[in-house]
Amino acid sequence: MSVKLTLQQKLDFLPAIASITLAAFYGIITGLWRTERQAKTLFLHIGYAVMRKVTARLTPSQMQYATPTSNKVYEQYARKARIQAQTVQLEHGALGHWIGDRDATNVMIWYHGGGFGLPANIGYFKFYAQLVQTLKTSNKSLAVFSLTYTLAPTETYPTQLKQAVAAARYILSTGRSPDTIFLGGDSAGGNLVSGVLSHLAHPHPQIEPLPLPNNAKLAGAAMIAPWTLLDTEFPDQEIYHGGDLITQAVAQPWASAYIGKSPRDNYTDLSNAPVEWFKDFPVNRVLITGGGNEILLPIILDFAAKFKEGFERVELFVGHRECHVAPIYNLYLGDATETAQGKKVKSWLVELAE
Ligand SMILES: *[C@@H]1O[C@H](CO)[C@@H](O)[C@H](O)[C@H]1NC(C)=O
Ligand SMILES: *[C@@H]1O[C@H](CO)[C@@H](O)[C@H](O)[C@H]1NC(C)=O
Repeated sequence: MSVKLTLQQKLDFLPAIASITLAAFYGIITGLWRTERQAKTLFLHIGYAVMRKVTARLTPSQMQYATPTSNKVYEQYARKARIQAQTVQLEHGALGHWIGDRDATNVMIWYHGGGFGLPANIGYFKFYAQLVQTLKTSNKSLAVFSLTYTLAPTETYPTQLKQAVAAARYILSTGRSPDTIFLGGDSAGGNLVSGVLSHLAHPHPQIEPLPLPNNAKLAGAAMIAPWTLLDTEFPDQEIYHGGDLITQAVAQPWASAYIGKSPRDNYTDLSNAPVEWFKDFPVNRVLITGGGNEILLPIILDFAAKFKEGFERVELFVGHRECHVAPIYNLYLGDATETAQGKKVKSWLVELAE
């Protein structure tokens, strides 16, 4: 899964690092006076400014070149946390990584985000460990099964959805009852959650169907800032406040790298699916969260409203003054303060887990 860059792409890192450094300094200066529409702390404000510049300035391939792969990050995490790394080879070239005891009563399959082009960073594994710990404190048990899918543009849609379905197929094949299985995902991973739910209800023409035994339902699906509309223009966007860690600049390169030559459809853009498409999703409850300061918020609110129209058991939660996928990216940046969205996902899981 390693990427090759041309010499020109490699040399481009030099001016890119200069402009990222400048963005950090600019973040320090402008961050001394922050509004409600910007990060709560100066530390996060600077971190978001750097993330905005990195993601806008570098291509998905350059970012993959500069960062360790998801499975490397998992192995590093396991060494540091002194746990035995347990990785499963899945169909279609995917990998699944266990966090927590795989015999736990409940399993959450997590699809990481990053525009389909970025690997899972250490923030993900720290977040998974928090979920496992929270359930333990409530006298319940949970293991997280994190999917490593092939990043775009190396592979394009529907490969990543096939791999996401493969993770669910594997967990079901272990004989686990669907009502102990949760799906979770953030951003592009939320897109995969929506694609898997769609596939369960309406088998994708290029993916083997995955019928649940006895018409059972999954326990729940949690989506943090799901990216379910791959439009590259964001209409009616309010003036930019600098409170998020991504900008509109990423939409075009990330969406086109994922879609490749395929047409967009109900599986890639659940925001555009007719409301009846949601009706038979085999899942007990759905949680959708977003950050109050994120550029995707209008899309998330619209998606949640539409989802609710077609499917009753949907809850929406917005974390005040939070950025895109704050529960995970704040951990990545080095701020372990609990986010409102993170807290919500945890209490939702505690409530629904067996
Ligand atoms: C969990 O179980 C222990 C031992 O049975 C008990 O002392 C504790 O209060 C329980 N905690 C919760 C959150 O139910
Ligand atoms: C999207 O959903 C609608 C309504 O169920 C259906 O008529 C249409 O064929 C779907 N499109 C695809 C590509 O599956």
